[in-house]
Amino acid sequence: MIQIIAASTNDIPVIQSLAYSIWPIVYIDIITLEQINYMLETRYSKQALEEQMNAGQQFFLAEEDNIYLGYAGVAPTETESLYKLEKLYVVPDNHKKGIGNILLEAVEQFTAEKGGNELTLQVNRSNAAVGFYKKMGFIIDKEADVEIGNGYYMNDYFMVKKIVN
Ligand SMILES: CC(C)(COP(=O)(O)OP(=O)(O)OC[C@H]1O[C@@H](n2cnc3c(N)ncnc32)[C@H](O)[C@@H]1OP(=O)(O)O)[C@@H](O)C(=O)NCCC(=O)NCCS
Repeated sequence: MIQIIAASTNDIPVIQSLAYSIWPIVYIDIITLEQINYMLETRYSKQALEEQMNAGQQFFLAEEDNIYLGYAGVAPTETESLYKLEKLYVVPDNHKKGIGNILLEAVEQFTAEKGGNELTLQVNRSNAAVGFYKKMGFIIDKEADVEIGNGYYMNDYFMVKKIVN
């Protein structure tokens, strides 16, 4: 049975290991390997993950039989009622088995417990995950090309979902 674990700084190696195995597979048709490596280095270093956690981002791990199958991260925003789904990644061999849905449920529960009533996220406009998010009740709010340094861009949709408390 899939377990959802609220992660701490002790779990940073697990999060890094998942990200470094999942990202090259799921993003290679969307962005260059150079951009994948740049984003992993800037967002998934020990220091970057510690900073994200210290700033209030809560990570969740999906685990079954001592094997980690995915992770999610949710963080507060400047708007008290609005939380941001910063990360949602499932190991590709385990897609379409309900794990993304279970991780998202944990994120929504966390958001509601914190008093939030809306989730936002950014997703590349070419990412098949857009279909997943629509299925999960997110709608496209706007789109933007966001510069992330080194001349790289994220060509994203911003999606939102109201959370029922
Ligand atoms: C997006 C992602 C997290 C979905 O996780 P998952 O575990 O495969 O999704 P689930 O099995 O929980 O799917 C829940 C529902 O969404 C549907 N779904 C899943 N992926 C879908 C897709 N790409 N398009 C349309 N629907 C999709 C499932 O069929 C399922 O529908 P059902 O309830 O009718 O059976 C996963 O595909 C992933 O890790 N993608 C790569 C990483 C990524 O791009 N993350 C987003 C970064 S912004």
